[in-house]
Amino acid sequence: MSKKRALVTGGSRGIGKAISIMLAKNGYDVLINYRGNIDAANKTKSEIESHGGQCTLLKFDISDFKNTTEIIQKELEENGNIDVLVVNAGIRKDSIFQKMKSEEWDSVIDVNLKSFYYITRPVAEKMFFQKHGKIVVVSSTSGQTGMPGQANYCASKFGIIGAAKSLAVELGRRNINVNIVAPGFIETDMTEDLRENYDELKKQIPLRRIGKPEDIANAVEFLISDKADYIQGQVIAINGGLYT
Ligand code: NAI
Repeated sequence: MSKKRALVTGGSRGIGKAISIMLAKNGYDVLINYRGNIDAANKTKSEIESHGGQCTLLKFDISDFKNTTEIIQKELEENGNIDVLVVNAGIRKDSIFQKMKSEEWDSVIDVNLKSFYYITRPVAEKMFFQKHGKIVVVSSTSGQTGMPGQANYCASKFGIIGAAKSLAVELGRRNINVNIVAPGFIETDMTEDLRENYDELKKQIPLRRIGKPEDIANAVEFLISDKADYIQGQVIAINGGLYT
């Protein structure tokens, strides 16, 4: 029987890294997509290999349709099945809406939303013929409620929930689960600029702490397991009780 394989976008650091390590611990060969930071990608690869896992690095910018599709397609043709896809990579470029530049709007929509099609379409097609698969999409609390300064980010994160829910309906009959995780404040490079406000933020979070990447990886671990076989098209909020 061929080895189980998983693809994680933006898997070299932060939430994607925690998910990649979790997948390796669960016996998956992990394909880690990264954009440019080869040092971070190599570090994650070494960490996975030091635990006896297998890791392949795939360099592409997920907002580049041609490159993304070609690399994923080639990977599928040459090496076969992908059993788990985690659509994780994302960016934020916050700004009050009246001051938001068109570049800030476009780039966030391109990276966070349009890429969903580029990444997921070829993998979903493969899973359709495999007749099994688990897809987990990383949205955000900002995909569940409006946030000041995040019209671009919220639009992208609400958008991928809609796309994932549609896929869940389309692919269910082929034994493919599609679900969404919606993290709250998680300590990663993405929230670096909020670090000095962490104490204030914690007061707003019922569980009184900022989340760790592993909090998200734990939920993804459940969603890709057999135990979640009957969960379809759902959004699991992992936010310490914030806004819920
Ligand atoms: P991060 O900034 O540490 O990691 C983001 C990853 O995405 C990096 O590896 C980065 O290289 C990659 N990436 C960005 N643009 C890319 C592109 N064009 N092509 C390929 N890779 C690209 O941030 P974090 O926190 O680990 O974010 C992971 C996901 O979780 C993102 O989708 C983010 O929106 C989401 N999220 C994060 C929250 C947080 O508080 N940290 C809260 C809610 C959602």
